[in-house]
Amino acid sequence: MKLILLGAPGAGKGTQAEVICDKLNIPAISTGNIIREAVKNGTEMGVKAKDFIESGKLVPDEVIIGIIKERLAEDDCKGGFILDGVPRTVAQAEALDNMGVEIDRVIDIEVSDEAIAKRLSGRRVCSACGASYHVDYKPSTKPDVCDRCGGALIIRKDDEPATVLDRLKVYHELTEPLIDYYRAKGKLYVVQGQEEVKDTTALILAALEG
Ligand code: AP5
Ligand code: MG
Repeated sequence: MKLILLGAPGAGKGTQAEVICDKLNIPAISTGNIIREAVKNGTEMGVKAKDFIESGKLVPDEVIIGIIKERLAEDDCKGGFILDGVPRTVAQAEALDNMGVEIDRVIDIEVSDEAIAKRLSGRRVCSACGASYHVDYKPSTKPDVCDRCGGALIIRKDDEPATVLDRLKVYHELTEPLIDYYRAKGKLYVVQGQEEVKDTTALILAALEG
């Protein structure tokens, strides 16, 4: 299964990708996590991407396309993968098509801008593995410690309320057109994001079987 998770910042792409990759036994690829790791390690790409990611702007298409080309060439992607947060522009979607990547399904997780503001203000992420939590909706067992790897949970720089508004603007302008792009290809499944993580997962799994 080659799957794209589409949706606004904070729609739950990362949360759902973590659950679904375990169920389908395929890797989840988050360009956001790859870039944050590169920023943390101070690599050449990380240095280039730092200002974009921290201010909520999109990292230039050519950087993203390079990252994804490299990642999809790895062995663990042979049996399929979940793309979380990529493509994010029509140019990125066209690049995937030009690489010969045949996407099976695109799930658009729909959540209102108001609910997103609430979700992102309570989000905590693991500084080591990138796993995503929420202080109310998905708390870790021990406060500020990742259940999966024991890493420290932190607040993302781009989850500042003003930056979240900028990210939503970028989403509506540059990423939302992908809904029509994939609908026209007959690949789009729209799922309404639910209050409970597990209820959204159930809708996504039903869409994958349908
Ligand atoms: P990225 O890391 O991809 O961020 P994003 O798309 O802005 O999305 P988020 O990670 O904020 O949200 P999510 O949908 O994964 O939600 P989550 O599951 O965490 O990208 C960050 C930046 O990197 C971009 O701004 C850009 O600079 C750069 N970048 C990355 N990819 C790029 C690309 N392709 N092109 C260009 N630039 C790129 O959930 C959010 C919160 O809600 C969590 O706390 C979670 O626990 C909670 N939650 C989840 N589900 C539920 C639920 N059902 N009910 C209640 N709470 C829930
Ligand atoms: Mg995410």
